Amino acid sequence: MSMREKIEQAAAAYPDQRSAIMPALVIAQKEHGHLPGPVLEEVADILGVERIWVYELATFYTLFHTEPVGMFHLQLCDNVSCMLCGSENLLRHMEGALGIRRGDTTADGLFTLSTVECLGACEMAPVMQIGDDYHGDLDVARLDALLDSLRAAAGRVADDERASQPLPGE
Ligand code: FES
Repeated sequence: MSMREKIEQAAAAYPDQRSAIMPALVIAQKEHGHLPGPVLEEVADILGVERIWVYELATFYTLFHTEPVGMFHLQLCDNVSCMLCGSENLLRHMEGALGIRRGDTTADGLFTLSTVECLGACEMAPVMQIGDDYHGDLDVARLDALLDSLRAAAGRVADDERASQPLPGE
């Protein structure tokens, strides 16, 4: 199913197409990895809504990315509950471990590091969102184990991709 068909299907549940912008952006981002200007314009055109409405939502919510992000987008909450539970220390630790600053992406394209507003999971502070998953009650040891598991997962993806490539001469 094309992105247009997916968006049209999702939008059919909404009497006001403006209300369908959020689910449409989720679909578009899954399709393209991020939401550059032409994709935002396409979403607006599919829904028949003002482009500025789509742009406003895409740039307001941290779950949407108008710039490319790494394979794993590390979104560490730095609001009050998480800050009181050590999120600043975790941020400094990740900056050191990854060799990047907040807002940057590692040279290998694996990790983008961001801080975000409250993720609505204060009971498990400090919390970090990666993709659709929340990782809570983090400390430095858990964080290191998590980064290691993500690197291993990326390695498995790379191995699978290499294995699916035809050998020279095939
Ligand atoms: Fe971090 Fe609410 S303050 S999840």
